[in-house]
Amino acid sequence: MNRNIACIGAGYIGGPTMAVIAQKNPDRKVIVTDISQACIDAWNSDALPIYEPGLKEVITACRGKNLFFTTDVAAAIRECDIIFVGVNTPTKTFGAGAGYASNLQYWEAAARTISQEANGDKIVVEKSTLPVRTADAMAAVLHTHPEHTFTVLSNPEFLAEGTAINDLLNPDRVLIGGPQDKRGKAAIRALVEVYAAWVPRKRILTTNVWSSEMSKLAANAMLAQRISSMNAFSALCEATGADISEVATVLGMDHRIGKYFLNAGPGFGGSCFKKDVLNLVYLCRSYGLKACADYWEQVIIMNDAQQHRIVARTVKTLFNTLAGKRIALFGFAFKANTGDTRETPALTIANLLAEEHADLVVTDPKALTNAAKDLAHLEHVTLVDDPYQAAEGADAILLMTEWECYRTLDWKRIYAGMRQPAMLFDTRNLLNYGELKKIGFKVLAVGKTV
Ligand code: UDX
Repeated sequence: MNRNIACIGAGYIGGPTMAVIAQKNPDRKVIVTDISQACIDAWNSDALPIYEPGLKEVITACRGKNLFFTTDVAAAIRECDIIFVGVNTPTKTFGAGAGYASNLQYWEAAARTISQEANGDKIVVEKSTLPVRTADAMAAVLHTHPEHTFTVLSNPEFLAEGTAINDLLNPDRVLIGGPQDKRGKAAIRALVEVYAAWVPRKRILTTNVWSSEMSKLAANAMLAQRISSMNAFSALCEATGADISEVATVLGMDHRIGKYFLNAGPGFGGSCFKKDVLNLVYLCRSYGLKACADYWEQVIIMNDAQQHRIVARTVKTLFNTLAGKRIALFGFAFKANTGDTRETPALTIANLLAEEHADLVVTDPKALTNAAKDLAHLEHVTLVDDPYQAAEGADAILLMTEWECYRTLDWKRIYAGMRQPAMLFDTRNLLNYGELKKIGFKVLAVGKTV
């Protein structure tokens, strides 16, 4: 076995993870591959394909030394004995399980390519989030090979976008699942060694393959469920006069509950939460576990309901009509510090506002390129870099993403450029409402009466 590492898929997971592995293992060659030439060209340029704080520095330090980006997947497979697979596994849009199950066509294609190109035994590491027991299916594809043996490990990634580099450098835990036979245990040890270059051993957990796959789905489902729970409370807070921020502080001080992931808002977005919860629902259903499936599905239903509620409140506050009104969305990324807009609540809300015939203006410091693609189907949308210009002549602003830069805007100047009475809906509880009200804004926030 050589020490080289390949990764199939140069996306949000593959790119940053391999960069940190390369940086911390300078004696290993790390080759990241993708079928998209444009994506690889971007990784090899100064304009990286994804925005992530700290990523550029790591890439610049290793690229061309022990970190390489290429479309030549076959050569990478031959050169490396540890092969990570970090390809897309989006929710299926067709056929059996559409809307719930993961589309595994890219994963299967990757497995077939590995099997075709391999020149010896390989350790194959699943990085993409996959339905439980996928490793088994992948092993079945790989085991058709007449000569070489493939050991499939599960090594789910827990990094969050916007903090990816820090999460990779200081993970709560690294999880490695593998077959519990002799060969499997040896493969697990080989992968432990990669991470042990910088992660304390006690934080590297090893389990059987299915516990590992299951833990990733379970972790994301629990986090998503916390957000839906807080959003459910936020609706009740608005109805009763309670304040969701105060409730969150009280809950967070209970060490059994913990203070993280208690922010109510426009609902969760991103490539993982919805996909993984839907996956879990599908898995439960396919094992005949109806009550479990219904329980987890409610997390998604609550998330959608929150977005509908935000639009309903907007319509009500703007005298029950949005037709021809100009509404500015401040932020389009699904969270701050990323340009990623996958499953962003801002898109659902933009679509609902467009149904009411509103004119939309969208601004975001990093996500406008993606926003342009996401909103191409709508007619009355303008994309604007400058938030002051975005608010010009607007009837309302919906603050969608908690970008730090929105805290420090000159809100007096913004108000002066808007059509009166100007409304500001802070869906992220980011701003100082006393000041905004003094300026003259009609202020709305999630989970509180302002
Ligand atoms: C998530 C998981 O955190 C990560 O472990 C996994 O590997 C991938 O999925 P990510 O989607 O990048 O990461 O972002 P995260 O910070 O978890 O936020 C997800 C969504 O939840 C965002 O839309 C965010 O705005 C929202 N959120 C988060 C809330 O609405 N409230 C909170 O309190 C926290």
